[in-house]
Amino acid sequence: MCGIVGYVGDRQAQDILVNGLEKLEYRGYDSAGLAVFDEGKIDYQKKKGRIQQLKEVLDEKPLAGSVGIGHTRWATHGEPSDVNAHPHVSSDEKIAVVHNGIIENYMELKDKLIKEGYEFQSDTDTEVVAHLLDSYYDGDIFEAAKKTAKDLKGSYSLGIMSSDDPDKLIAIRKNSPLIIGMGENENFIASDVPAILEHTRNIYYLDNDEIAVLTKDSVDFYDEDGNSIEKKETVITWDPEDAEKGGYPYFMLKEINEQPKAIEDTLIGRITEDGIKLDDVIITKEDLDKIDHVHIVACGTAYNAGLLGKAFIEKYARIPIEIETASEYRYKDPIITENTLLIVLSQSGETADTLAAIDIAKKAGARVLAITNVVGSSVAREADDILYTNAGPEIAVASTKAYVTQVACMLLIALHLAKLKGLLSEEDQKRIAESLLNSPKQIEEALEASEEIEEFAYENKDLHDVYLIGRGLDYDSCIEGSLKIKEISYVHSESFSAGELKHGPIALVEDGTVLLVVATQDKTFDKLLSNILEVRSRGAKVLAIAQEKHRDALEKAGVEKVFCITDLEDDIAPIPAVVYLQLFAYYLAVARGCDVDKPKNLAKSVTVE
Ligand code: G6P
Repeated sequence: MCGIVGYVGDRQAQDILVNGLEKLEYRGYDSAGLAVFDEGKIDYQKKKGRIQQLKEVLDEKPLAGSVGIGHTRWATHGEPSDVNAHPHVSSDEKIAVVHNGIIENYMELKDKLIKEGYEFQSDTDTEVVAHLLDSYYDGDIFEAAKKTAKDLKGSYSLGIMSSDDPDKLIAIRKNSPLIIGMGENENFIASDVPAILEHTRNIYYLDNDEIAVLTKDSVDFYDEDGNSIEKKETVITWDPEDAEKGGYPYFMLKEINEQPKAIEDTLIGRITEDGIKLDDVIITKEDLDKIDHVHIVACGTAYNAGLLGKAFIEKYARIPIEIETASEYRYKDPIITENTLLIVLSQSGETADTLAAIDIAKKAGARVLAITNVVGSSVAREADDILYTNAGPEIAVASTKAYVTQVACMLLIALHLAKLKGLLSEEDQKRIAESLLNSPKQIEEALEASEEIEEFAYENKDLHDVYLIGRGLDYDSCIEGSLKIKEISYVHSESFSAGELKHGPIALVEDGTVLLVVATQDKTFDKLLSNILEVRSRGAKVLAIAQEKHRDALEKAGVEKVFCITDLEDDIAPIPAVVYLQLFAYYLAVARGCDVDKPKNLAKSVTVE
């Protein structure tokens, strides 16, 4: 995720900015840059790669001056490169800007600015902000910033400086965090507390549509119309290590809590008034007509998201899907022709088995559509069509926000393919799109249940096995939930399709066996209820995730903990449902004293076979 640091004070800005960016390295980035005001002009340096590479450039040509902005970029629009790195500057280099987030309407704004004569250097959405600021600038950078913000749709936090107003920094926030730090004769902006914690603990959190104007001895806050507002200071008491995790004890819990925002970022610009719009998926109707079978291939959690993808594509686009783990696919002699579409999912975009699968498929003439979280990754470079998850970097080994965003992407792809085939009614498209947009709220509901899930996990921390059952999409959620439990708590866990219980697994159920039941699908609820009664009568302790309207029935069946999702569209249920399972896995691991973020024997990115 991108990082922002800004400084205005008496000290030299360069080292404070670089040091602040280093404190944000944990967020992940692919390039870094700084802009500092000195002797009547803004100087800047930006470099693809690590901060160390930027430092080498700065060692040769330091940026002097005591006002500046810095940025670490995690690419979303345009691959990692020097030119796409931030800051971005206006053509006369009098205005510089750093940005976190995604400008949803940047294409529209870019077209307008090009017509006005602006020339673009980069592929980023951010550069439109620099030129927009310039187009509105008539001597007052605050006014220009206010007008610019009104034109922008999407999520953004911005740090802005102007060489005509050299003692000032402007900070603006919408749907992307930004804080202001107050020091003595110096003030700071940052996307996250660790960047400035060694200089100040006195912080103001900007809220959406708020603007801050900083000089070295003042900070003023305004609403979007420029009316002055008062804000409350927060004094940070965390130590620096906690601060990196945003106050959470583990990155995994932080990332679980980031899921509402991650889904919002996945959907930005892709659900429009005209329906689903996937810019980088360029399959045409003619291309699709030629495709006679689709393979979905991935590893680990990404594979589990692919399971839901299969269900969605088969349901909406009526195309038969074969799904395989990449490690099996590559040695199985799969039937691939020029009429094959291979869909791969990979958070990192660097998983060796997944890359090998792409290689095999491409050699056989298949078309490759990739869902990945990392712009410019190997998977992204190899694919013909790409859909980025926009989840921001994931640090904990156990994948959470990457999974829910992959599921959302799979549903978008299914709808897109169905639309191309003329199989999607306007009504269905609208209903599912609305429901997807509502899913962040349902994730919030799940997050609110954290304490209760924690209690249940602690009560049962000495269990030897935990089983998960569900049907249809719920079974797919169980598979992912079970993987999470294994990965981080080292408890033996298996998922079963509930209808298969009586064909074997029910023999495992005895007094005190813990069963997690995912029962969100309306059409199979009654069947699942019978399964619950079967395991309850053998003494199992059950935690269930279901729809509100089924609460009574579950409680009557003796289910110990019932968690209900409201306003549920069945196909969207896997997104909030898995969050309850992630939380259970997390608290079970904590209760058992496990190192949640770094489980034994596992790696985040498996780049070898
Ligand atoms: C490793 C990670 C998993 C991940 C899998 C696939 O096993 O520990 O969390 O799901 O690789 O990674 P990818 O980056 O391709 O999604």
